[in-house]
Amino acid sequence: MIELKNITKSYLLGKNKILALDNLSLTIKEGDFLAIVGPSGSGKSTLLHLIGGLDRPISGTVFVEGVDIYSQKDKDLAFFRNQKVGFVFQTFNLLPTLTAWENVALPLTFSNVPPKQHKLKALQVLEKVGLGQRASHKPSELSGGESQRVAIGRALINNPQMILADEPTGNLDSKTGGEIMDLFQELNVKEKITIILVTHNQEDAKKARKTYRILDGKII
Ligand SMILES: Nc1ncnc2c1ncn2[C@@H]1O[C@H](COP(=O)(O)OP(=O)(O)OP(=O)(O)O)[C@@H](O)[C@H]1O
Ligand SMILES: [Mg+2]
Repeated sequence: MIELKNITKSYLLGKNKILALDNLSLTIKEGDFLAIVGPSGSGKSTLLHLIGGLDRPISGTVFVEGVDIYSQKDKDLAFFRNQKVGFVFQTFNLLPTLTAWENVALPLTFSNVPPKQHKLKALQVLEKVGLGQRASHKPSELSGGESQRVAIGRALINNPQMILADEPTGNLDSKTGGEIMDLFQELNVKEKITIILVTHNQEDAKKARKTYRILDGKII
């Protein structure tokens, strides 16, 4: 379970303080599939970053499985990000010089899995995301939908309990985006992975179990 309690996050830009999240509280059950929608600048990405241990709140607490993640040492917070969270972004963020399987295997570098097992594990995950035939392709040799599948494979490689996806279909046509959403649905149902998805797309949001709307840093 993920529990955010009275989270406030602001940024100082010159002399101006920008309030990105405003005393926000939210509970997400294990195995849920949540869509977060809201206008540009409403705090959606900031919220995902705070859930995934990528940023720190000004005040408030983020509990994951009862652990106050930001009270941990940096080393433990990094371990949490690497082992428990899979991030997927709009822009895929693959390393261009690495093949599909090498991109998928990258997070294993920081895990306890012996290097000899990395390739086999990556190939298994690529099968799972429907890309077994493209394992040796470089990102420049992949379509947008295929690239996003590689990114999802990279997010899955350490068997995370949650996937945090920030507009994962934003750079894809609607058919390809729909297929990516089907993959998230499958991962949620079959693998019981908690999925938190930020989207601007109504059709995408329909595939989640619930939708939360965020405005001016508050859930409404
Ligand atoms: N590093 C930063 N420094 C200063 N302000 C920031 C920073 N990151 C975000 N903000 C501000 O915080 C607010 C929330 O930003 P956030 O990125 O969470 O919005 P969003 O809902 O994801 O928007 P979009 O739909 O455009 O991606 C915005 O006003 C934004 O300008
Ligand atoms: Mg955003």
